[in-house]
Amino acid sequence: MQHFLSLFDISPDELQLILRTAGVVKQKLAAGDRPNILKNQVIALLFEKPSLRTRVSFEAGMAQLGGESLFLGSDVGWGKREAPSDFTNVLGQFVDAVVCRAKQHTKVELLASFNAMPVINGLTDLCHPCQALADILTIEEVFGSYVGKHLVFVGDGNNVAQSLALICAMLKMRFTLACPEGYQMDSDWMSKVQAAYPDAAIETLHDPAAAVQTADAIYTDVWTSMGQEAEMVARRQAFKDFQLNKTLLQAAPASARVLHCLPAVRGEEITDEVIDGDQSDIVRQAGNRMHAQKGLLVWLLGREWIGKNVG
Ligand code: CP
Ligand code: NVA
Repeated sequence: MQHFLSLFDISPDELQLILRTAGVVKQKLAAGDRPNILKNQVIALLFEKPSLRTRVSFEAGMAQLGGESLFLGSDVGWGKREAPSDFTNVLGQFVDAVVCRAKQHTKVELLASFNAMPVINGLTDLCHPCQALADILTIEEVFGSYVGKHLVFVGDGNNVAQSLALICAMLKMRFTLACPEGYQMDSDWMSKVQAAYPDAAIETLHDPAAAVQTADAIYTDVWTSMGQEAEMVARRQAFKDFQLNKTLLQAAPASARVLHCLPAVRGEEITDEVIDGDQSDIVRQAGNRMHAQKGLLVWLLGREWIGKNVG
């Protein structure tokens, strides 16, 4: 069964097909056409952490495709009320796929292990693959193509950075992480990326101004991710020289664009003038969450339509 727990679950060709499908469905929406590609299909959203973008973009996207979505909060008792196998096998009787946001990546892996329905990762501590799809769609729109582009991530080597490193490797883009010592990406994850994509152009630097010098896009995310709240004070200290502010932006080419997955802590990892400035594509990027995920949903649940409508 096809799952989307991370970008390792798909090939570069499949990734490009999902992105092309997203582009076609987005163009159709702009022209007022909302084809019912997933009519009568139902997805569940099983979330252990808060969300605005992921939840609403999946719900709205599924509705626009003619399907339905069910948001499942803590009251369904996932992991608490009954055995994982019973929970998952029963859920699979009702829905065509589940989008899961979990505290630990192992929990989405367990959910997928029963093959009761396709499982889509809506963020874990390890990676955030749906976010990366939207980010590449945005880079493609802004520059006309993602080919050969250099993405520089300034901040924590976290779940978002790890998905971006992998998607850049898959698309032969250049990826640089500028982070403080001790906050680099997970070494097991990076070994898997290097093993799967030996030509990947990924580097880690500790000087943000040097890192952004050849950037096409500069990306940042919170210094303290959900679940790391106890480390907030130490992280503020560690990351204080890694703020994406006007001075850092001036070290980059004038054509560089600014991205952030949101939610942001304004005044911490990014300043108001950068997030709201002329070089920011952050709101468009958030909007692309829905378009990218529609491409993913159609690829997972409406493959026949792709054959007839996507070149
Ligand atoms: N970027 C992102 O995943 O946002 P939410 O946490 O609001 O879903
Ligand atoms: N790194 C952040 C991303 C939120 C979308 C977190 O995991 O909290």
